[in-house]
Amino acid sequence: MPVPEPPLWEQLASKSAAMPQGERLQKVLAVRGWGSRRVCEDMIAAGRVTVNGELAVLGRRVAVEHDRVEVDGVPIGVKPGMVYLLLNKPAGVVCTAHDPQGRPTVVQLVPSEPRVYPVGRLDSATEGLLLLTNDGDLANRLAHPSHGVEKEYLVDVEGTVAAGSLRRLRDGIELEDGMTAPAKVSQPTPGVLRITIHEGRNRQVRRMCDAVGHSVQRLVRVRIGPLRDAQLAPGEWRELTDAEVRSLAEAAASNPPPPGSGRYAE
Ligand code: URA
Repeated sequence: MPVPEPPLWEQLASKSAAMPQGERLQKVLAVRGWGSRRVCEDMIAAGRVTVNGELAVLGRRVAVEHDRVEVDGVPIGVKPGMVYLLLNKPAGVVCTAHDPQGRPTVVQLVPSEPRVYPVGRLDSATEGLLLLTNDGDLANRLAHPSHGVEKEYLVDVEGTVAAGSLRRLRDGIELEDGMTAPAKVSQPTPGVLRITIHEGRNRQVRRMCDAVGHSVQRLVRVRIGPLRDAQLAPGEWRELTDAEVRSLAEAAASNPPPPGSGRYAE
């Protein structure tokens, strides 16, 4: 009796397993928040996913840098109904939904519909870039310290920071909630630090600077992972481009720096 041919998608899956290049399509979709892997497999099987314009089959691998993946004609990384706003938060505005002291809130600076939420927090006195979105999956992944998404700050501190203190900031410094992870720290101008961290502890940069005896006079966040915008005036916001949303999703999906990977280069 002839042996029946395995279904086409199984043949294709085993073919691609023999040449493992790129990532499995269902994983790529799942990490971008399109649903669990099972849900994403069902979307592929239902013919809703294309790669470079061609209907995708289960087991297909893709290289996200080169391949154009779409669900129902929508490029992945940009989910329908999802809004991603980049705000330049001015000092004195709080990130909570309501402030008992009646201070202005970040959500009052952006459109009220659809409702968006800040990803992480900046202190009331801190200025600079803040992401707001209604994409809860991406927000959770970005806020999770294990993803190690970098945040870069310009910090105006009291006095000039000595080389030894810069080294302590870089290597990790003991705070009341434990050692900080290695950070990138430079002093482009005396009294101005550029600090890049990938943790998101409460008032972390202020506490790091206090710990080396230099209180913070002004703190501005100038980068969140791949996002920068030196043109956005305080209080202004704009939507992220599709490419920015995709690179943010990439940054949130990528692995954390290995523990003990040493200090960052300057
Ligand atoms: N570190 C701080 O100390 N404050 C912020 O708002 C952000 C990072």
